[in-house]
Amino acid sequence: MRLIERLLYPRLELNDQKLYDEVTGKTIVITGASSGIGEQLVKVLAKSDCHLILAARRLERLASLQQSLHKERAHIDVYGVDLREEVSREQFVDFARNVSPQIDVLVHCAGHSIRRPVRESTSRMHDFTRTMAINYFAPVHLTLSFLPELEESGGT
Ligand SMILES: NC(=O)c1ccc[n+]([C@@H]2O[C@H](COP(=O)([O-])OP(=O)(O)OC[C@H]3O[C@@H](n4cnc5c(N)ncnc54)[C@H](OP(=O)(O)O)[C@@H]3O)[C@@H](O)[C@H]2O)c1
Repeated sequence: MRLIERLLYPRLELNDQKLYDEVTGKTIVITGASSGIGEQLVKVLAKSDCHLILAARRLERLASLQQSLHKERAHIDVYGVDLREEVSREQFVDFARNVSPQIDVLVHCAGHSIRRPVRESTSRMHDFTRTMAINYFAPVHLTLSFLPELEESGGT
């Protein structure tokens, strides 16, 4: 790589130890933890002494992730929930509060993409309603619900 490129586009190096130090002692809620980005994040954070509260619909996948990480440092709680449902979201918030009065970080990884050409979607408005429920209303509802805890802990 040429010098000018290195100056303009410095390589982004992740410092794992800095991350572990940052999250030590924190309680972190992660939605969409049963696969994809959320699952990968759990595997990274589990190496530090933190408390992870995981949510997704496939409880069996969350439980197997929890089991596979039982020798790591994090304490992990799991909860099976369809976050498109308002009442279910409230039950999840109650669960999280029950296992930890302190919430420091909220990470919304649960989400869905409609991978269908728009011309094949003319009679599928329900897909958009469901997608808004998980991609928009769920993060808004959870953020509003956990805001007092996040403010209390100075979290994010
Ligand atoms: N991967 C990428 O490069 C990328 C790039 C840009 C944007 N995104 C977006 O980021 C989000 C996550 O991507 P990903 O690659 O990690 O996708 P993924 O592997 O499909 O994971 C989605 C996660 O969301 C959970 N989820 C979906 N619907 C849910 C519901 N109704 N209630 C509770 N949890 C639900 C899934 O768990 P259950 O099925 O067990 O419920 C799963 O854990 C998606 O919205 C995706 O479109 C991804």
